[in-house]
Amino acid sequence: MSEQQQIASQGVFITLEGSEGVGKSTNLAFIEQWLTEQGHQPIVTREPGGTPMAEEVRELLLAPREENVSEKAELLLMFAARAQHLDSKIKPALAQGRCVVSDRFTDATYAYQGYARGVNLDWIGQLETLVQEDLRPDLTILLDVSIEVAMQRVSMRGEMDRFEREKAEFFEKVRQGYLARAAAEPERFAVIDAGQPLESVKADIAAALDAFFSSASTNTSRSAKNARLNG
Ligand code: TMP
Repeated sequence: MSEQQQIASQGVFITLEGSEGVGKSTNLAFIEQWLTEQGHQPIVTREPGGTPMAEEVRELLLAPREENVSEKAELLLMFAARAQHLDSKIKPALAQGRCVVSDRFTDATYAYQGYARGVNLDWIGQLETLVQEDLRPDLTILLDVSIEVAMQRVSMRGEMDRFEREKAEFFEKVRQGYLARAAAEPERFAVIDAGQPLESVKADIAAALDAFFSSASTNTSRSAKNARLNG
């Protein structure tokens, strides 16, 4: 069995992160295409959401509303959706050796609820342990772009959700939160300059994926995680 086939049979968890307006949708489609071409048959999903119940929680979370939303309610709903998503979709897929790509995961909670809203990072860590146990992404692709460029792109959207209505200052905190997470775990993160022309962004993403799948150490770490997941 080739190294690539071996990795595929052990399950791989990839997450895509970034503030609003970084070009996540276009690049997610590119990641899916790259993985498919390499024979990984990816399962693409998103957070909050990814299952019928978690998608209902997403609607609750994103709907603009008059009522002030409690930071703790927002945090717990993010993790409630994640628990459902993990148990009914992500973990079973990884246990079957699939490659799962999630458009956002817990780094978003650290960036948005933690760094931007100011929720205690230790609480997030405690919920992360409760909901995920030792499951963490194997690779996180962080699309990074200046807030000026990002806000310009967001302002061109039609109807904006509850998060997109936040001010530039909020998104600057989100961006800095993501960059702090990436600096703390450089071996897991690939930080991509999403302010470049799209073809260069795609080339950098492809290089990051290639480096990840070529790395024998990643192979070992997923193997150990899967052994724990399968009990
Ligand atoms: P998106 O589909 O555009 O990424 O929208 C999801 C929104 O939810 C986005 O504004 C980020 C936000 N979010 C959080 O605040 N915390 C989280 O844990 C996740 C997954 C998303």
